[in-house]
Amino acid sequence: MERIDGKKISAQIKEEIAREIEQIKQQGGKTPHLVAVLVGDDPASETYVSHKEKACNKVGMESEVWRLNADISQEELLKKVDQLNQDPQVDGFIVQLPLPDHIDEQKIIEAIDPKKDVDGFHPINMGRMVIGLPAYLSATPAGILELLKRYEIETEGKNCVVLGRSNIVGKPIANLMLQKAYPGNTTVTVCHSRTQNLQAYTQQADILIVAMGKREFVTADMVKDNAVVIDVGIHRIPSDKTKSGWKLRGDVKFDEVSEKASFITPVPGGVGPMTIVSLLKNTIAASQNRIYGE
Ligand code: GUN
Repeated sequence: MERIDGKKISAQIKEEIAREIEQIKQQGGKTPHLVAVLVGDDPASETYVSHKEKACNKVGMESEVWRLNADISQEELLKKVDQLNQDPQVDGFIVQLPLPDHIDEQKIIEAIDPKKDVDGFHPINMGRMVIGLPAYLSATPAGILELLKRYEIETEGKNCVVLGRSNIVGKPIANLMLQKAYPGNTTVTVCHSRTQNLQAYTQQADILIVAMGKREFVTADMVKDNAVVIDVGIHRIPSDKTKSGWKLRGDVKFDEVSEKASFITPVPGGVGPMTIVSLLKNTIAASQNRIYGE
């Protein structure tokens, strides 16, 4: 079994990104500039956004966080989105999800200029991704592809089973693994909460991508020998053994599944650290007009 070290790979990629930004600056180019919009004070969102800010600083990218009150109206938030769409200094921005209940998330996502949508959540970017056109890929699926690439994991002709059908992970990664490309060219099955006899599918998976949000759901008996197992789950559970008072677990029972897998991502330190790297890459692409041209 080889443990896929997302922490190591993400550190390597951050160094690559830092070098690329340095080069852009030396050639007189504009420093890539990312804005994160944070509405309210959801603690998980605070953590994600502060990690993003730190990562930007580390690679020499400009970053801002726009903190807005939880009671901002939808109309006001749409105005902020428009302001960011119009600001030539801002190459890309994200609106951290989830948003408060009184705001229609989809409406906000669709208001973002697809050229600045470095989260890849806008239907134009999603649609382009499905067709196989250049598009901003959302952070988690792009991070998974990068790990498969860096570990030179064969994908062509394999059975890929995705557990979960969210817009952020399940649907995009299923489509990407279907593309005529590397990584890709797999035969994809998507399972979800209404799938009957889930185990019959997971046992056929050469590549199993788990993004269902159920703690340690996937057990060894569900997994084929030598499968590649990618765990997207993140669950905080209380622990008296750590300083923080909690530890992280995934959707996969790591200890037993790792005995059977050929490659497996741990939680923490697997897919998680890769997501920020994908966002940084998208922001550079935005600053260089790589997806949509000038
Ligand atoms: N909430 C959890 N993950 C994400 C993400 O990748 N982007 C945004 N905007 N919100 C999130």
